[in-house]
Amino acid sequence: MPTTFKPDTTKDTFTDFLPLEGTDYVEFYVGNAKQAAHYYMTAFGFQSLAYAGPETGMKDKASYAVRQHKLTFVLTTALRTDNPVADHIYKHGDGVKAISLRVNDATSAWKETTKRGARSYMEPEHLTDKDGEVIMSGIHTFGETVHLFIERKNYHGAFLPGYREWTNPYFKPTDTGLLYVDHCVGNVGWNQMNPWVKYYEEVMGFRNILTFDDTDISTEYSALMSKVMSSGNGFVKFPINEPAEGKKKSQVEEYLEFYNGEGVQHVAMATADIVKTVKELMSRGVEFLKVPTVYYDDLLDRVGHIDEDLAPLKELGILVDRDNEGYLLQLFSKPVEDRPTLFFEIIQRKGARSFGKGNFKALFEAIEREQEARGNL
Ligand code: FE2
Repeated sequence: MPTTFKPDTTKDTFTDFLPLEGTDYVEFYVGNAKQAAHYYMTAFGFQSLAYAGPETGMKDKASYAVRQHKLTFVLTTALRTDNPVADHIYKHGDGVKAISLRVNDATSAWKETTKRGARSYMEPEHLTDKDGEVIMSGIHTFGETVHLFIERKNYHGAFLPGYREWTNPYFKPTDTGLLYVDHCVGNVGWNQMNPWVKYYEEVMGFRNILTFDDTDISTEYSALMSKVMSSGNGFVKFPINEPAEGKKKSQVEEYLEFYNGEGVQHVAMATADIVKTVKELMSRGVEFLKVPTVYYDDLLDRVGHIDEDLAPLKELGILVDRDNEGYLLQLFSKPVEDRPTLFFEIIQRKGARSFGKGNFKALFEAIEREQEARGNL
């Protein structure tokens, strides 16, 4: 019998104890889930997918799932005042509660993370209906945000057990070309970035792939620091921001004040054609931050050749940045609720795997103009 050489994997070899297959869905706790679902459908081009509420046996909350390509959002609200969803909304306003991650084994994900120090949010639960079984578990992360682990390999239904199909034959918004979650960014408190970096490293096996200090991300007035954490296979990325000292109030501080603590700052959604997507979103009422047109005067000197025409980028205010591997196009919405908290990023990657460092200054000056108008700078 031939002998085969088996490498020793016990030493100096990185084993991914939490293999993540990507973002399964993002769940928002909102004041009015029915209207929020309508907003994401009308403005962002999501389609109705599934509903759960008293009619499906969920007594004290209602959830609407909407989908566009690989992006699934769940809008959840409380039906009564005395429950955790209501408390969350009272404290934080509308925001992200759960970044749910697709795994092959939700029981192992929970065991591996909790044994490394994660605080359990939900022990593995088997949810079943006529379409099969989903196993779900969860852990806490910054603020009151959680990560749910979703194992759905034995499930064939539209979304999750407990939900029923939800369609409206009279309302089928066309999609806007949004494809999947590129990354989700967390805002954490003063000096809390490194402890959370350590948490993602130790508890979830993530690696710190990029670091921006306050000299990278500062304007005349305010500053922040950021470290980008990536899952072992690179499918899930979480940049983590903390405020830094500046002459005036950091945008992260403003967030922390209005969100009443740490939480998700923005969700970046990928598109394959940012000009088309942003035109669609704007025509449906999504508002974006605008950089001054002077940004475009020497853009091509800064980033070199790009495939796109400059004129539509300038007209729509789309930003461009280049790294060693290629370039990216991106644009940031204004906050999508009245509190200056959660917003969205639209991103198209053309080889680049970074996050638009070259745009930080122009972008943050645009944010500061908004902060100033709110009296919070
Ligand atoms: Fe981003």
